[in-house]
Amino acid sequence: MANWTAFGILSRRGRTTVVGTATSDSKARPMFSRSRTCLVALGALLLSACAAGGSIAQGQPKPDWNLADMPSQNGRIFLVTGGTSGIGYESAKALAAAGAQVVIAARNPERGEEAIASIREETPDARVRFESLDLADLASVHALAERLTAALPRLDGLINNAGIMEPPERGTSADGFEMQFAVNYLGHFALTEELLPLLQKADAPRVVTLSSIAARLGAIHFQDLQFEQDYDPAGAYQQSKLACLMFALELQRRSDAAGWGIQSIASHPGVSRTNLQVNNGFVRRSIGRFVLQPAARGALPTLYAITAPDARGGSYYGPTGMMELRGSLGFAQVPAAATDAQAIARLWSVSEELSGTRYPSRIAD
Ligand SMILES: NC(=O)c1ccc[n+]([C@@H]2O[C@H](COP(=O)([O-])OP(=O)(O)OC[C@H]3O[C@@H](n4cnc5c(N)ncnc54)[C@H](OP(=O)(O)O)[C@@H]3O)[C@@H](O)[C@H]2O)c1
Repeated sequence: MANWTAFGILSRRGRTTVVGTATSDSKARPMFSRSRTCLVALGALLLSACAAGGSIAQGQPKPDWNLADMPSQNGRIFLVTGGTSGIGYESAKALAAAGAQVVIAARNPERGEEAIASIREETPDARVRFESLDLADLASVHALAERLTAALPRLDGLINNAGIMEPPERGTSADGFEMQFAVNYLGHFALTEELLPLLQKADAPRVVTLSSIAARLGAIHFQDLQFEQDYDPAGAYQQSKLACLMFALELQRRSDAAGWGIQSIASHPGVSRTNLQVNNGFVRRSIGRFVLQPAARGALPTLYAITAPDARGGSYYGPTGMMELRGSLGFAQVPAAATDAQAIARLWSVSEELSGTRYPSRIAD
């Protein structure tokens, strides 16, 4: 069976998207062989990118915002999931260099130590440490939240960054959920809920959740949320990233409504040179060199969202050039599916049920 893949934006189930792709079958297929679908998808992306451009609103970053614009983070404490590589590593490194205390959480302690050593090459006095976290295991999520709650005075920022993309075979988490849904979305949904009290001890706590342009092509498949019937690696990735975006926007809405005092923001890195992308065979072989931006650049929307005084809760930041694949910072396009109030409410309630967490309806003063 063909396994179409490119930048994680393709889907068999939705039959919407083939943009410059190849297969992981033994027999390579020519790019754009599904040309009609391709052109429609490419056109849709181009149009939507154009439609997204030009808006000026509160919280609009200056397009050339970069690390030099980041205010000192001295005295602030951040948790970065998946901080051992790619976007998470670059985010942790920049925050530590700006004076923050940073906890990086991921599965592999050795990679954690390597990341810390590498951060300390640039910032010898960096206050950074590793914590074990497997987002595919809700017990591990719970254990991390407990450890941090016991150890930290507060949490100024949580970056829900860790992720996996398009494992060719359907895997399941320790709790029995489709792996991308579990790692990219549900684990972060639970982690954020469990860390709310610690976040609320900070003056201006922020939660930044990583989505992707793949979310634009996604749908929440309520009839088969776990892709048990017809596993589609790209469709499951798109669903997980759409869920992340819906979560980020809804977290802000609920925080406003219930007085949680949290700013919740979504970000995406365009397409950036990280393990997630370079492990994609097609990208590595073909166009990666030309399209992927450096991971440090891909981390800027997230760093803006978590640190910039002007960043606004409920916003979505990403690169604005070339269909949001790369380029200068700005508002990212929010797909209509991410603002469907009924679907958002349904997803939130299903997520509470599946993760065994319950967000408070109101925070006590
Ligand atoms: N790179 C891109 O072009 C791109 C585009 C759109 C969106 N994104 C999003 O950006 C985020 C970061 O991706 P990346 O490109 O930086 O990927 P990456 O280089 O592969 O890094 C992924 C990180 O997640 C951690 N991780 C994976 N599975 C985990 C689990 N079960 N529990 C805890 N941590 C886990 C990994 O560490 P361990 O393996 O040690 O656990 C690693 O630190 C993801 O949410 C991704 O969807 C990336």
